[in-house]
Amino acid sequence: MKIVVLTGAGISAESGVPTFRDADGLWEGHRVEEVATPEGYDESPALVQKFYDDRRAALASVEPNPAHLALARLEEALGPDLVLVTQNIDDLHERGGSTEVLHMHGELLSALCRACQSRMPWSGEMSGFPPCPRCGVSELRPDVVWFGEIPYEMDRILSALSEADLFVSIGTSGAVYPAAGFVQQAARSGARTLELNLEPSEGTVWFHEARHGPAGQLVPAWVDEILLRVTP
Ligand code: APR
Repeated sequence: MKIVVLTGAGISAESGVPTFRDADGLWEGHRVEEVATPEGYDESPALVQKFYDDRRAALASVEPNPAHLALARLEEALGPDLVLVTQNIDDLHERGGSTEVLHMHGELLSALCRACQSRMPWSGEMSGFPPCPRCGVSELRPDVVWFGEIPYEMDRILSALSEADLFVSIGTSGAVYPAAGFVQQAARSGARTLELNLEPSEGTVWFHEARHGPAGQLVPAWVDEILLRVTP
């Protein structure tokens, strides 16, 4: 059975990583235009670098939760038949044991050089505008996909969606495209579709089935169901 799983901020919420669309509509006190657009960066690079430095540093104080661990168990059983796509820029899937994670919105622990376009692992700060280790120019920015930019890994994701038997969306509001359209793409290619989310997402009507509750409970239970079906 080929499965594509899409995760969003809700899967990391129980680990203590705040989601994006809280009641106040702000991301850690900032409007998204300020900290998640190329225009915002051009206007206030120091503020944006500090914002992502803080998010990167905060990774040290969070741990994967049972939902991340369950998806790692699923990868162990299914191997390449599981394609795990995340909109999250944290590293909790990897720390939970998943080895193949498609980070369509980039990663906090990666830097992108605006001068030479290199992408490289990065765990420290960028606020001091350090030189790029590859080309020496001080044009490093967080390697995250901002609004108006093209998400990563789209070829692999679209191909996996077209072959999937099951598409599962976990902890995402369904407010941001192209990820919000994956359910319809998968269904058009014949996949069954399942939503696991705290509450009905904006796209909940597109799913064949929806289960609502905390990911830390719903995901391990769903993985157990799949493992019963696929393991001899
Ligand atoms: N378990 C399951 N779902 C949860 C939990 C939980 N414990 N807590 C919150 N949720 C759900 C919320 O109900 C909401 O529907 O997770 C969803 C989180 O939605 P968003 O904050 O909009 O996050 P996401 O869908 O990942 O955002 C998509 O938007 O700002 C951009 O690039 C950013 O990747 C992000 C994208």
